[in-house]
Amino acid sequence: MGSCLSSIEPYSPNQAGSASSPTQEQNVAEAANSVASLPMTIKDVEDFRQMPGYGDVQTFTYEELRLATKNFRPDLILGEGGFGLVYKGTIDDNVRPGFEYTQAAVKRLNPDGHQGDKEWLAEVNYLGHFSHPNLVKLIGYCCEDEHRLLVYEYMTCGSLESKLFKKGCTTMPWLTRIKIALDAANGLAFLHGAERPIIYRDFKTSNILLDSEYNGKLSDFGLAKEGPMGEQTHVSTRVMGTFGYAAPEYIMTGHLTARSDVYGFGVVLLELLIGRKALDRSRPSREHNLVEWARPLLVRRKRLFRVLDPRIRSQYSDANAERVARLASDCLSQNPKARPAMSEVVAVLRAVLRDEAGLPRPGSEAAVTLYEAPKEDTHSPAAAGTKGEAAERS
Ligand SMILES: Nc1ncnc2c1ncn2[C@@H]1O[C@H](COP(=O)(O)OP(=O)(O)O)[C@@H](O)[C@H]1O
Ligand SMILES: [Mg+2]
Repeated sequence: MGSCLSSIEPYSPNQAGSASSPTQEQNVAEAANSVASLPMTIKDVEDFRQMPGYGDVQTFTYEELRLATKNFRPDLILGEGGFGLVYKGTIDDNVRPGFEYTQAAVKRLNPDGHQGDKEWLAEVNYLGHFSHPNLVKLIGYCCEDEHRLLVYEYMTCGSLESKLFKKGCTTMPWLTRIKIALDAANGLAFLHGAERPIIYRDFKTSNILLDSEYNGKLSDFGLAKEGPMGEQTHVSTRVMGTFGYAAPEYIMTGHLTARSDVYGFGVVLLELLIGRKALDRSRPSREHNLVEWARPLLVRRKRLFRVLDPRIRSQYSDANAERVARLASDCLSQNPKARPAMSEVVAVLRAVLRDEAGLPRPGSEAAVTLYEAPKEDTHSPAAAGTKGEAAERS
């Protein structure tokens, strides 16, 4: 996975460049306080081709991306999902004269797969429009003839899935896990807080990517969809997503709400707590499905401490581990209405992180605030909302 460090530094609240650095804190806080507005509805690729373009999102030719990835060289493959293979690429003066050296991840549609224009458009439409510190940046795309590619900022440390589960990777410390959970929760809360909520629909460890400082960002918006509006209680869709993460009521009825994402978040939180994959067929059959096996244990104190990831045993305070376990249990409630909103999840995780990192509480003399906005900026919608808004300002 690229040039990622082989050991994982424990999250430190004073770490330069971490999400607690003043600028990042401010970015997250500003983004949290801004309301994302909706991208335009684009029917299909033909409709898309009529559009003038998306702010600073670049249009690449197939030839440029072929050059950037050294003809899609197999040793540059970073990963693979339902859409196709993802390659590490370099875009510079050799690819396009005058282009500043940029490392990128280039995702190419597999024409023989199950995904296509719909998923490609969803990614361009949402990621091309939103700008948030916990969403991966879309640098550009290619839509030439039958080619469909996406070019993202390169996330040096790859996916949370690989860092948490790949053999040979150093154990990810407790505080780092909580910090990444908070980052991902911030990303989801931003989407759910949009003018018309956006439902991400495929929340899982392989879609949470990590930069060189282990900041977590959501990627892969192929299944993202506009949520219910006004009187609507849900939107009806074909059931899509990933087994092990999809909410039970969504699987049964196809009714999609923001609370379906909260369930997926609960599964990831459980994976972080227990250190096991959502589905693991190498375990005894009653332990195959992590949620079925572990959810009942989350609210039983003694049993909880027996199942928490033994590799991080000495790193958490019992009270905070219980708090996170209760949060996971609430997110995984069978009743979608009983699940917390992502903004509430953010508040709990932020409090746990503050507590575990031993930081002073807000209000105390020497308070170091994590993720809180300076007062004068709190209602600035253009602060970090959408690229459109940012463009209007400049
Ligand atoms: N921007 C990126 N930087 C580094 N690795 C990436 C990036 N985007 C994707 N990957 C790798 O490729 C995998 C698949 O990417 P993803 O966008 O989820 O594809 P799909 O839509 O096919 O599921 C990820 O799990 C990750 O390992
Ligand atoms: Mg994916």
